[in-house]
Amino acid sequence: MPPSLMYTSCLFLLIMEIFYYLNFVLGLINREVKSMSYAVEVANLVKYFGKFQALKGISFNVDEGEIYGLIGPNGAGKTTTFRIIVGLIAPTSGLVKVLGRDVETVDIDLRKKIAYLPEDAGTYRNITGYEFLKMVAEIYFPNDKSRFEEALELGIKLADLGDKIHDKMKTYSKGMKRRVQVARALMIKPKLAVLDEPTVGLDVIFAREVRETIKNFSREYGTTILMSSHNMLEVEGVCDRVALIDKGRIIAEGYVSDLLQEHGAKNLEELFVMLVRGEEE
Ligand SMILES: Nc1ncnc2c1ncn2[C@@H]1O[C@H](COP(=O)(O)OP(=O)(O)OP(=O)(O)O)[C@@H](O)[C@H]1O
Ligand SMILES: [Mg+2]
Repeated sequence: MPPSLMYTSCLFLLIMEIFYYLNFVLGLINREVKSMSYAVEVANLVKYFGKFQALKGISFNVDEGEIYGLIGPNGAGKTTTFRIIVGLIAPTSGLVKVLGRDVETVDIDLRKKIAYLPEDAGTYRNITGYEFLKMVAEIYFPNDKSRFEEALELGIKLADLGDKIHDKMKTYSKGMKRRVQVARALMIKPKLAVLDEPTVGLDVIFAREVRETIKNFSREYGTTILMSSHNMLEVEGVCDRVALIDKGRIIAEGYVSDLLQEHGAKNLEELFVMLVRGEEE
């Protein structure tokens, strides 16, 4: 082989090698950056209660600032997943990262950036909605008067109960109590809000208003929302992406419009029935 041709071939191989190496490094950086930007990362989550397997390997990621819905019927595993994510119970196995940290290493400072609304959150009977929100603002911002006032003002706005905010909470309807609870979770402007059935027990008008509140709030403050519902139709309008969960497993995941198109379903309810039937056959 003439020396000039050999030189050209070597140069070509060297360039290819550099290109391959750069590609590899860029890929790694990209993966790292992407992983750092997830608000919630769940991989292969398994949970046993005694011998009963409630979660059978759940995996999903929630991007920062998105509204992600976990939807499925009663007993599917939504609350169990949420309780693990907010650190109330430990998983049997699997990886759970919240705001970039392994869930078991989340300290008090990070915990203050995570709001959790349990599905069965109770209210105090003998204090007013205003007093309740004031108490929450005091707990979160004990030494910061301006943040305390800002949180309280936002809470009152989100609850949107007018003068009734000054009535005792024992006089509130179910829907009014839920609104105060949603306001309580969001008023601290968390980075991540985990809302378990935020519209449970609400009539269509109240439910719609609460959904709008959640959506507008997430847009305005860039808050990541992880919410659950067993009402598949209601989440279509509020969530960016959803995971359909059944009997402890995710059976479909992605953007609502993509999922419907992919499976030729009219809505999520129809899609759910199609997928469950498909698995049973
Ligand atoms: N502490 C517990 N001990 C035993 N079993 C439990 C416990 N918590 C949940 N389970 C079981 O795990 C399964 C999932 O329950 P989970 O509360 O997560 O469902 P869900 O999807 O939130 O349902 P729902 O829509 O009714 O709130 C159910 O079969 C439930 O009975
Ligand atoms: Mg539940």
